[in-house]
Amino acid sequence: MEKRDELYAGKAKSVYRTDDPDRLILHFRDDTSAFDGKKKEALARKGMVNNKFNAFIMGKLQAAGIPTHFDGLLSDTECVVKKLDMIPVECVVRNLAAGGLVRRLGVEEGMTLTPPTFELFLKNDEKGDPMINESLAETFGWATPEQLARMKELTFKVNEVLKQLFLDGGMLLVDYKLEFGVFKGEIVLGDEFSPDGCRLWDEMTREKLDKDRFRQGLGGVIEAYEEVGRRIGIAFD
Ligand code: ADP
Ligand code: CDP
Repeated sequence: MEKRDELYAGKAKSVYRTDDPDRLILHFRDDTSAFDGKKKEALARKGMVNNKFNAFIMGKLQAAGIPTHFDGLLSDTECVVKKLDMIPVECVVRNLAAGGLVRRLGVEEGMTLTPPTFELFLKNDEKGDPMINESLAETFGWATPEQLARMKELTFKVNEVLKQLFLDGGMLLVDYKLEFGVFKGEIVLGDEFSPDGCRLWDEMTREKLDKDRFRQGLGGVIEAYEEVGRRIGIAFD
């Protein structure tokens, strides 16, 4: 696999073309951002930790029958993925109330959500990733009703697999964001699953072990990511 020119530099990853038109290389950088890019910092080892974390999770999801873009690790900070036509809609599932839901509705942080909620956001930093719904997505052509139905089905399937995986490591999967794209007509899970895009709390103490440590300036961000990884069986070195 030959690495070609950079296609896109995002806030945390850079995307490269390859000699295969259907494959991309994702380079996980140490750059960390929050609040739609307003808070930024480079955290040593983050690229490596998230690359290996994501590879492990994508493998588990693939094994559970969820189609993902992940092909394999290329280096400590790079992986090869299928090139998707990304759908600019973020799918969020919440098992416990936190973050934006608490701010928006004033419900108590940590309350159990039964059944878990499903929300859609438009992927658009300039507009602050506004909340949308199926009707808006269809009208403005961001996704078809059929695509949205499949994305919702897969997002909940991911919940079943990952809730248990993290629980086995003594953690609660509070919420998470997924991005999907289209590959040869099929809806496929893209982007990444790492503590950058989900909330994970220690089951007993409810200590935050995810990007909220960065958002809230709690420190020990990468140490927490590595602790999560170790608890579910990832070896980082
Ligand atoms: P952002 O764009 O939000 O700053 P990143 O820094 O993570 O995010 O950049 C990675 C970009 O690559 C994202 O825009 C994401 O939608 C896109 N992407 C992820 N996986 C794929 C894929 N398989 N094919 C095409 N684009 C992808
Ligand atoms: O993170 P914030 O409180 O602003 O938003 P949220 O709606 O509570 O986020 C729900 C979940 O999706 C959290 O785990 C976020 O980390 C994740 N998310 C993300 O990874 N990227 C976004 N652009 C928005 C949310």
